[in-house]
Amino acid sequence: MHISVIGTGYVGLVTGACFAEFGLSVTCMDTDAQRIGKLEKGVVPFYEPGLTELVAKGIKENRLTFTTNIVNAVDQALVIFIAVGTPPKADGSADLSYVEEVGKGIARNMTGYKVIATKSTVPVGTGERLRQVIKANQTSSHRFDIVSNPEFLREGSAIEDFMRPNRIVIGADSEQAMAIMKDLYRPLYLIETPVVMTDIPTAEMIKYASNAFLATKISFINEIANLCERVGANVQVVSKGMGLDQRIGSKFLHAGPGFGGSCFPKDLAALVQTGERHGYEMQVAGAAARVNEKQKFAMVEKIRSAMGPLKGKTIAVLGLSFKPNTNDLREAPALTIIPELQKDGATVRAYDPAALEESCKLLPGLVPCEDAYQTAENADALVILTEWNQFRTLEFERLKTLMKQPLLFDLRNVYEADRVAGYGFRHISVGRLP
Ligand code: NAD
Ligand code: UGA
Repeated sequence: MHISVIGTGYVGLVTGACFAEFGLSVTCMDTDAQRIGKLEKGVVPFYEPGLTELVAKGIKENRLTFTTNIVNAVDQALVIFIAVGTPPKADGSADLSYVEEVGKGIARNMTGYKVIATKSTVPVGTGERLRQVIKANQTSSHRFDIVSNPEFLREGSAIEDFMRPNRIVIGADSEQAMAIMKDLYRPLYLIETPVVMTDIPTAEMIKYASNAFLATKISFINEIANLCERVGANVQVVSKGMGLDQRIGSKFLHAGPGFGGSCFPKDLAALVQTGERHGYEMQVAGAAARVNEKQKFAMVEKIRSAMGPLKGKTIAVLGLSFKPNTNDLREAPALTIIPELQKDGATVRAYDPAALEESCKLLPGLVPCEDAYQTAENADALVILTEWNQFRTLEFERLKTLMKQPLLFDLRNVYEADRVAGYGFRHISVGRLP
């Protein structure tokens, strides 16, 4: 079967490369000619573990091709996935202009029956809207079906998440389209992946409800962490104690500097906005977003209150991307926290294994360093902002000789206080007393 994926960002490229790995013939299309030019040579435009190898394999085995031409993407494909961005507009609602542009492009180039599946995260009602856009722009009478097939992969573990998902969600209102979609995922039935088959609005809602729930778990535990600090409890043990209850589950209960990334903040905002549009206030989702904004500033306060005035001080930051194993900086806590420290007059030195170059463009005055130890040179404090694995085994004896003062802000709770104190470091973390 031939399929195409429109938009070669995190979701589109992973989708294309993974379906090619399943044995399908895949055309990936993007309007960004530079991006497509690089991909044709096997150069992946962002950091995602294992993706370069998978793309190279797909190209070599002639199952993965790239194009900037929508005609090529529509022509042979039975299923066309839409995986373009849906960024937030000023009012928080999802900007659907990219999705609609793709819809128009498909409408004008149809050569036969097509299944058009949204992988982009789109508000409830978008499937129907897309159907109307396509109908209004169709230059032929070919039949088509709309499907909602939301994607649940995480950056940094995208291939594993795509290849071994917890579930596949397919929303359709045509038996033919449902059967075709189910067939695409056949390799995953060998590992008994559950499939939720439903209507289009319900599939669209499952995606927002899932992201909003995960984001709420994080904001909830961050609030508990802030209270733990005030009452002398340990949030890591609280999380463990809660998570052992299977109704709660242990995942997404790690306290920290607040969630970032291109999706949780934007999807919460879009869900709240969908509620507003329908005269209903989504209070929990709204609160999760507000708590998250406050959490980033709470981290700045934590640093200020432990260090005193920051003017003339040097702060060494380890980790800038919104999470480990990605170079994605979208909504990363670093983008809020570092400018606040700089505003107070601190010099911020930083190292990130993948996001350093991009960070320097976004954070003027940031001093880029080559590794954790160079970052720590002459610093008054070390801040772990993103828990890359290489920051889990820091040599504290060495750090102590390099730094002006042995002070660690462990904003991801990577270390135990005893261990760090053993090296003479003052250890300040999240939701645990020093
Ligand atoms: P991205 O910004 O990384 O990539 C979007 C791509 O679409 C870009 O390469 C852009 O050039 C291309 N594009 C824009 N308009 C186009 C057009 N008219 N024709 C062809 N290409 C076009 O976005 P992303 O992070 O992959 O997210 C895409 C969607 O998937 C969003 O709705 C997002 O919410 C959702 N999603 C993202 C993730 C994630 O981890 N990033 C996970 C699940 C769902
Ligand atoms: C998230 C979801 O996990 C995916 O299922 C979804 O497909 C995706 O959004 C999306 O729709 O785009 P992602 O943003 O890539 O994936 O990364 P996560 O692992 O969910 O982390 C998001 C943020 O939450 C990071 O900043 C991370 O540090 C933070 N986080 C996560 C915590 O602070 N605590 C936790 O316990 C877990």
